[in-house]
Amino acid sequence: MNSTETVINHTKKLTEKLGRKPGVMIRTFGCQQNEADSEVLMGIALSLGYEKTDDEKKAELIIYNTCAVREHAELKALSITGQLKHLKSENPDLIVCICGCMVSQEHRLSQMKGSYPYVDILFGTAEHGKLTDYLADKIKKGGRYFHPDTDYSIEEGLPVKRESSFKAWVSVMYGCNNFCTYCVVPYVRGRERSRRKECILEEVKALVADGVKEITLLGQNVNSYGKGLYTDYDFADLLEDICGIEGDYLIRFMTSHPKDATEKLIDVMTAHSQPDSRPRIARQFHLPLQSGSDRVLKAMNRHYTRERYLSLVDYMREKMPDIAISTDIIVGFPTETEEDFEGTLEMLEKIRYDAFFSFIYSIRKGTPAEKMEQVPEKVKSERFMRMLDVQNRISLEKNKEYIGKTERVLVEGRSKTDGDMLTGRNEKNRLIHFEGDDGYIGSFADVEVISADTYCLTGKILKK
Ligand code: 5AD
Ligand code: SF4
Repeated sequence: MNSTETVINHTKKLTEKLGRKPGVMIRTFGCQQNEADSEVLMGIALSLGYEKTDDEKKAELIIYNTCAVREHAELKALSITGQLKHLKSENPDLIVCICGCMVSQEHRLSQMKGSYPYVDILFGTAEHGKLTDYLADKIKKGGRYFHPDTDYSIEEGLPVKRESSFKAWVSVMYGCNNFCTYCVVPYVRGRERSRRKECILEEVKALVADGVKEITLLGQNVNSYGKGLYTDYDFADLLEDICGIEGDYLIRFMTSHPKDATEKLIDVMTAHSQPDSRPRIARQFHLPLQSGSDRVLKAMNRHYTRERYLSLVDYMREKMPDIAISTDIIVGFPTETEEDFEGTLEMLEKIRYDAFFSFIYSIRKGTPAEKMEQVPEKVKSERFMRMLDVQNRISLEKNKEYIGKTERVLVEGRSKTDGDMLTGRNEKNRLIHFEGDDGYIGSFADVEVISADTYCLTGKILKK
């Protein structure tokens, strides 16, 4: 019996015993790449005879897909893993898997081996396709299994169970070669590797045929797309080819490294983001700055300066004056002085981002910044609050500019905070709340903006 047959046989037996299909519950921490990976894990589990459940008491397979980018994410994953102990003792059929970036680190793998005996299977980020083999081993032989990443090749054709019927992630490349000195990603996701363009184009075509309205192309650094695979084909070429697939859908992509984002890419975006172009590349660009100090950028190993960054922003705004630009900022990177930090505030004022994601620097084991001179916690959090004040003011001012305008919005569902309201995002990725019936969910609608807040807009629906 091969692995697939072994697991299917097992889920059939459980179905007879339980009077229902065995449940699978997956919890995802961290970034969009992890969300995309979890959709593959769910696809595999469903193909093996499990049924999706949100009730952990009805789960015979629980998978936690973890994140390691900051300590906070790791502590959260460890703490909820601890809560699985009682579930495991209550349900003898339960198999517990912990996977993802946290587990790809040796010290966390051995910590989980030693201190979490109720975890059955541990595996990293690279070998999701082997889930079936891992489960089959467990079912056949019992015991516990630890699988550090060994094979970073790309697996095509794995089943995927997408969370949304109208929004989809499509990975174009995996891994990272940049080794920013604060970042754990290159250590846990391996070296850069790109998917073949034919596979990506086929996947996008199939999604569009299925009625998907928004496709986000994912990569740790999408601008490295094609390196080592093609000599004369890059991310801009890929975007151009994707736009050749007919349909009414929006394309987004993330993340771009400022050292690699090209004018060619911006030109392709400009050409395919005109009001009459379908499909349309969203006029939205996520361009992590990380710090506004040249000295800190150097210590971070970012390979660009404020000047290079600003000239990229100028070029984007010259070509697409209404483009929405967002960023990531780290506060309190080792050795950051008050003057360095003021350089970051100055960049926020100069660029006036539409949105930003800010993080207090978190020490990551094994990275070069771990050994640098650390900024005291109190200073870090005080700078963080000052920075929020600056950006919140700018965000509110920018949001107010939408009042009275009509925005085309992809309606995503009911608002989590107010069930009477629908919620969605415009092309610029602005969150908009408005009243309406469920029939709008999953399609584009025109919404007139009535009021603006720091984090969202409120409007009224005009038409589909
Ligand atoms: N501490 C704080 N933030 C970090 N990021 C990456 N590593 C760290 C770290 N050690 C942030 C960066 C990156 C985003 C995804 O997470 O800003 O762009
Ligand atoms: Fe981390 Fe830098 Fe790679 Fe982004 S580019 S994943 S911040 S090492």
